[in-house]
Amino acid sequence: MKKAKRTRTATLRPRNAFYAQSGGVTAVINASAAGVIETARRYPRHIGKLYAGRDGIVGALTEDLIDVSAESPATIRGLRYTPAGAFGSARFKLKGLEQNRAEYERLIEVFRAHDIGYFFYNGGNDSMDTAHKVSQIGDALGYPITCIGVPKTVDNDLPLTDCCPGFGSVAKYIAVSTREAALDVASMARTSTKIFVLEVMGRHAGWIAAAGGLAARRDGEAPQIILFPEIAFDRPAFMARVKQSVESLGYCVIVVSEGAKYPDGKFLAEAGTRDAFGHAQLGGVGPVVANMIREELGYKYHWAVADYLQRAARHIASKVDVAQAYAVGKAAVEYAVKGQHSVMPAIIRTSSRPYKWKIEPVPLSAVANVEKKVPREFITADGFGITAACRRYLAPLIAGEDYPPYVDGLPDYVRIKGKAVRRKLKTDFKV
Ligand code: F6P
Repeated sequence: MKKAKRTRTATLRPRNAFYAQSGGVTAVINASAAGVIETARRYPRHIGKLYAGRDGIVGALTEDLIDVSAESPATIRGLRYTPAGAFGSARFKLKGLEQNRAEYERLIEVFRAHDIGYFFYNGGNDSMDTAHKVSQIGDALGYPITCIGVPKTVDNDLPLTDCCPGFGSVAKYIAVSTREAALDVASMARTSTKIFVLEVMGRHAGWIAAAGGLAARRDGEAPQIILFPEIAFDRPAFMARVKQSVESLGYCVIVVSEGAKYPDGKFLAEAGTRDAFGHAQLGGVGPVVANMIREELGYKYHWAVADYLQRAARHIASKVDVAQAYAVGKAAVEYAVKGQHSVMPAIIRTSSRPYKWKIEPVPLSAVANVEKKVPREFITADGFGITAACRRYLAPLIAGEDYPPYVDGLPDYVRIKGKAVRRKLKTDFKV
């Protein structure tokens, strides 16, 4: 991979930094925050104070900044094993500079007021677009700022990186849950439930659904069917496969992606609402599929929607995922102090067996708004399972456990103090 071009030189005096979490949170996004914060603290000659946006970029626009220096080293260490967005995350799309100059001018007003010279934006697809736009305002509006994207998304759909921090832990949770629930349904199938449907996240890309396939150690083991967004839903073929599985094994376990679609592109389950980025809010495909089966084949079913449980499941996080989440946060700061600009630390796989990886910068312009789907060669010819190549790709990403400390039988997660930075501007900004 070509090295991203250096466009900034190291600053002569320390400037403050801004860090924000963006989009759907994960079990390990706070590990990236810990990577950013602990590394920034090692570069006092470059980085003065580190501020975090309360609720992501919204915190920058409304001048609602959190003073990260008020958080103890123990709390920051604890972020490594605490799920969700400790500083608050947001789905807030910055439009283009031409469409909404006011938002960019406001950002600069806030950055200038707080002498912010570094911008670290921790998010997925849409967020890398925001990071890319912010990286351009320095030139367009004459405000020097070093901008680095920090990758995160359970959907695993960012390009140019082998995987996305957050995905490995969701993948592990889904593979574990599928294997466990399959044992349950198999126990009672003769006299009771024959169908178990697990709905998983992933919107437009079926990576999480694919991870359900890791539950099977050999052919015929659950899940018997995976429904991917990448493969148009073929109802007759699906029903035939369900029937065949129940007749031969006594039961059928199905992992369905929330993004599963009909051949005309309509989602099997669309909640009817849209988020700030214009994405349809999904959810409910599990019961839709289960009902279809009962109507047509009459089998008793159970279904579950993994929903937030899957992306908050830090108790069963993948050790590899935690390490990568921390590493991209650390690398982001190292790039910034070395003068890199408008790049994202990407995870590069150098070997699958044994699994080896390194971090390299890729340009934000090449990452913004590109979605990486599950390639056809990772899906079996019938469209209902994962291939050996997919298994080889996925398996290392769920490897190892990194348990949080437990107190009284529960994970002992940390909470930040969240001390507000004193406001300097007289003006308010409505978002
Ligand atoms: O950001 C990824 C994601 O977890 C998707 O898989 C899911 O569709 C979406 O976020 C849910 O977002 P929200 O929590 O904003 O409804």
